[in-house]
Amino acid sequence: MTAEIINGKEIAAKKREEIAKEVEKLKENGVTPGLAVILVGNNHASRTYVTNKQKSCQELGMHSILIEMPEEVSEEELLGKIDELNQDPEIHGILVQLPIPKHIDEKKVIESISPLKDVDGFHPVNIGRMMTGQNTFLPCTPYGIMVLLEETGISVAGKHVVVVGRSNIVGKPVGQLMLNQHATVTYCHSKTKDLKSYTKQADIVVAAVGIANFIKADHIKEGAVVIDVGINRNEAGKLCGDVDFEEVSQVAGYITPVPKGVGPMTITMLMYNTVKSAAESSNR
Ligand code: GUN
Repeated sequence: MTAEIINGKEIAAKKREEIAKEVEKLKENGVTPGLAVILVGNNHASRTYVTNKQKSCQELGMHSILIEMPEEVSEEELLGKIDELNQDPEIHGILVQLPIPKHIDEKKVIESISPLKDVDGFHPVNIGRMMTGQNTFLPCTPYGIMVLLEETGISVAGKHVVVVGRSNIVGKPVGQLMLNQHATVTYCHSKTKDLKSYTKQADIVVAAVGIANFIKADHIKEGAVVIDVGINRNEAGKLCGDVDFEEVSQVAGYITPVPKGVGPMTITMLMYNTVKSAAESSNR
């Protein structure tokens, strides 16, 4: 079997057209969706991600500001800035790019962002809302995965989903979103014994472990859906996912590539959440 490729770039482009129309409508009503991104320090990968977020805002006609803070910035100063943005009516979404320097308490920072502007969906209030199936901002990468499946016509109801990885940003929430849509969910992680015995049973595998080419063909049931969240570099410095694409695409029914799979969906859902926030703020 050769897997069908789930083209994240194409699906993201389609979603962005819909978002651009929503931006136009809001602007006609005098509201320009605005995103504030805070970048602390000089992490190279973070800078690239932040630049791409800014670019996407521009392409969609949204307002965006980038606040750069030095590595040594105090927690107090960062929290002060967030408070200012919480009060700013032109800003509908606030994102502090993670990771942040170790001397700053990440939990405090996340909790200081107003849940009404938490377009990352990281605030405990929004996580609680997600868990109980209420209207909220869903975290962007997990949300993007759900949209990829929906747009490909893959229903998760009744399916066995195995999530490999348990991060707060991807693993935990993607399992919850699958559960909310009636999947049977198993979480595996670095301490799981005999990982293959779980992944082999899966109708859908979500790989979010951060290890290059970790998932091999013999982890996967014939015809399964394989979602690769990894962004790694192999020994040759080439961008690759957590899934050994060459091998696994011979066994799987559907597979997301890296790049052009899950990646383009993350920023798209960030744009979606910011526009949703702007629309909701104008209804308050
Ligand atoms: N760092 C890596 N991914 C993310 C993300 O989705 N949001 C934020 N704020 N930081 C990140």
